[in-house]
Amino acid sequence: KSNEQSVIEAAHELAMKFYHHILLKTEMGAPGLNYLEQRGFTKEMLDTFQLGFAPNHWDSLTSLLEKRGFNLKALENAGLLSLREFDGKVFDRFRNRIMFPIWDGQGNVIAFGGRIIDDGKPKYLNSPETVLFNKSRTLYGIHLARPSIRKLNQAVLFEGYVDVISAWGAGVLNGIATLGTALTEEQAKVIRRNAETVILCYDSDEAGIQATSRAASILVQAGCYVKVALLPEGQDPDDYIRLNGGEHFKRDIIESSLTLMSFKMQYLRRGKNLQDEGERMRYIEEVLNEISDLPRAVERDHYLRQIASEFSLSLDALKQEQFRMYRERR
Ligand code: GTP
Ligand code: MN
Ligand code: MN
Ligand code: MN
Ligand code: MN
Repeated sequence: KSNEQSVIEAAHELAMKFYHHILLKTEMGAPGLNYLEQRGFTKEMLDTFQLGFAPNHWDSLTSLLEKRGFNLKALENAGLLSLREFDGKVFDRFRNRIMFPIWDGQGNVIAFGGRIIDDGKPKYLNSPETVLFNKSRTLYGIHLARPSIRKLNQAVLFEGYVDVISAWGAGVLNGIATLGTALTEEQAKVIRRNAETVILCYDSDEAGIQATSRAASILVQAGCYVKVALLPEGQDPDDYIRLNGGEHFKRDIIESSLTLMSFKMQYLRRGKNLQDEGERMRYIEEVLNEISDLPRAVERDHYLRQIASEFSLSLDALKQEQFRMYRERR
């Protein structure tokens, strides 16, 4: 590890403790604590995820880091401070935000996500990429979730930090999240090294459903067995837990997750009237296409039988059609 990296790590560790202290122990942190309490965060969640608050000042963290002898210019590159161009002065990059420390796989704090507490923009301000922080390689919560992920041989992948924390409060300890970007191959490989099964639990909105499809194919490529946890339309996991409680979330959402093929069938059905012969045929064609993608013959057989029985079709005809697609593809 280079000297630069060690300095950045030390500064992040100090910043995490500072923000956490501000949140829990000071008057300056009251707006943040109030916000988190309103949203149902417990003391345990705040401690486990070391949440903090960046006060609404220009120089809170800056002056602490200066007092501790850090080279402030170096920390501008680390994303903790910002530089004012015209006079070269540095100031706190994160102000008036809830601070979510982001750890690497070994448990070193390498970045922060900062959420605004009113409806200003941007809602989340994340650290920029640095020598330590590579967004496309990092998974939020992985070092905390790893023991549970390994034990269950299963990870739950969320869209947001808040979802990971809420789910943890609900007893789902194997949750992780991407950092506001699409899942990458690198992240999928990291997940696969720790577990075979991945449950995708994204927000139930158009963006979340699209992202689920894309993440699923990347995970399948990486050798994962993918399941999909579906939430009521318009909700995200945190919304659901607030509304229905953690036990319902565990039982009715996580433990009731669908196989990837069932999810795809539901997805392909959307907006189609299956009473209409043309639309029904188009649906069957699309499902057969997905079935041809399945790597295992047993699985293909299983879904072909399901379609045959649902639409009273001959299994032989479906098999022939599917086999034609299968061959065209290889
Ligand atoms: P809450 O509104 O606090 O419940 O957060 P959420 O997790 O529901 O947020 P949302 O579903 O909008 O976004 C999911 C994830 O996308 C967040 O955890 C962030 O990582 C990222 N994200 C959301 N909004 C922004 C943004 O304005 N800027 C950046 N850089 N990332 C964002
Ligand atoms: Mn604490
Ligand atoms: Mn979303
Ligand atoms: Mn959300
Ligand atoms: Mn949310």
